[in-house]
Amino acid sequence: MPIMVLEVKNMRLFIAVNFDQELKHRLTQIAENLKDLAKKGNFTRQENFHLTLVFIGETTQVDRVKEALKSLKAPAFTLNLSGLGHFPRKGGHIYWVGVEKHPTLLAIYEKLYRALTAAGFKLEKRPYKPHITLGREVVLKPGFNGDEFISRWEPLSCQVTKISLMKSERIGGKLVYTEIAATELNG
Ligand code: 2AM
Repeated sequence: MPIMVLEVKNMRLFIAVNFDQELKHRLTQIAENLKDLAKKGNFTRQENFHLTLVFIGETTQVDRVKEALKSLKAPAFTLNLSGLGHFPRKGGHIYWVGVEKHPTLLAIYEKLYRALTAAGFKLEKRPYKPHITLGREVVLKPGFNGDEFISRWEPLSCQVTKISLMKSERIGGKLVYTEIAATELNG
């Protein structure tokens, strides 16, 4: 008698705002400038810049996440980005560009968090701190001046018209993010 093996596909998922090429290019330039002022670090590749709304992690329940995303209703909006910050870590910090706590962004986060929690997902309990990661395990050279670094930036902003469900994979040692579903925001 043949044995049936049911394959359950596990995926690492997160919900995010993706950026247009121009903003990704500008963020790459900022990350490259930071790299020049760093002793070490893993800096974000151009195609990977995004703003995470909810990190879901490993799950087999992709359809439930898609349902939660499909039920989201919110208007399109403009989001301003500014400032350089870091999350302290042993062995090198996570450096990021700050994101305005726009009421629509926070409302979208709340709606998704509630829908996913109701669908049985165990999510991060830490308060939402919107940020765009420039690099991880970063150690800056002595004398780095954050204010001077930021003063060279032109204003950064993005039109948020779509929220995406992203799959995260490590392929050949590289982090690769792929959109697998999306909800358009109304204009
Ligand atoms: P980060 O950029 O600050 O690392 C994909 O991993 C995305 O989900 C990244 O933007 C990452 O944020 C975010 N994320 C949030 N919580 C995470 C966690 N516990 N583990 C990995 N990524 C997380």
